[in-house]
Amino acid sequence: MILIGFMGSGKTTVGIELAKILDKPFIDLDQQIVLENNMKIPDIFNKFGEAGFRQREYETLKNVIEKDAIISTGGGIITYPDSFDLLKNISKDIFYLEIPFEISFNRIKNDENRPLTKSKKSDLKKIFEHRIPLYKELSDYSINGSESVNEIIHNILMHKK
Ligand code: S3P
Repeated sequence: MILIGFMGSGKTTVGIELAKILDKPFIDLDQQIVLENNMKIPDIFNKFGEAGFRQREYETLKNVIEKDAIISTGGGIITYPDSFDLLKNISKDIFYLEIPFEISFNRIKNDENRPLTKSKKSDLKKIFEHRIPLYKELSDYSINGSESVNEIIHNILMHKK
């Protein structure tokens, strides 16, 4: 099972709980990128730019995608065509945690571990709006991410294959 959605949509929190319930390993793709590159995400952005980060994110995705695990992805993974296609062609449940921009923004603003939060709020909103159709296209189900973690998990378990 794969969780997608914008920054701050709760992918990691929900993924950890789901993994416990389903007794599967949990893989946080961002953490995995940090481990594989031995660099923090802001340092990867600074040194290689966003394009360099996306390339590394794709390499890490390839390394974990076949695992029987709950995989939480970074919010921008859908913007890189190779990653998008890889996700599109894997036969796994993909859930989109959908939340309003303001909720996401309040959760992520000032987070130094998320380089994109340095952007102006209006620019971040444009990024958010640009991504929505990509999340929708890729996912099997959109889940209302504004509900409680328990409700979100309940909804995911109802729809899982
Ligand atoms: C990003 C989201 C982050 C991380 C990186 C870029 C994005 O992951 O991959 O900072 O472009 O939306 P989260 O969605 O887990 O915050």
